[in-house]
Amino acid sequence: MLAKIRHIPLFLGILVTVAMGISAIASGADADSGKQLAVKLCTNCHIVGGDQRGSDAVPSFSSMANNAIYSDNRLRGWLFNPHPPMPAIDLSRTEVDAIIAYIRSLQR
Ligand code: HEC
Repeated sequence: MLAKIRHIPLFLGILVTVAMGISAIASGADADSGKQLAVKLCTNCHIVGGDQRGSDAVPSFSSMANNAIYSDNRLRGWLFNPHPPMPAIDLSRTEVDAIIAYIRSLQR
């Protein structure tokens, strides 16, 4: 029993470290984390890089960045509630903001 109690501070320390790590990831609403998300979640269908070319059926991220119809509101609304053929992707608000920041960074 005593041995277990002695481990509590260590356990709490690990908890705090993990929690800080998670919040550091979650708070990165910047283009870099958006790019990582895009590469991980969107490349199967979209051209996410600035200089690639792809099909017309699926808009590339650089075409979105350079087309005024893709406002932040439109992107945000779409990402929270996409419709077929694009699947719903479970993204947090922070992740959506990061992806939009990344798309904006492709503007020429
Ligand atoms: C399984 C394939 C697939 C994946 C994965 C996917 N998309 Fe799409 N996405 C599509 C298709 C297909 C369309 C075109 C839908 C249409 O025009 O009706 C589309 C359209 C869009 C649009 C345009 C919406 C509009 O207003 O016209 C945005 C923005 C978008 N996707 C963002 C993303 C982002 C960001 C990701 C990654 C988090 C992603 N997509 C992942 C297939 C996909």
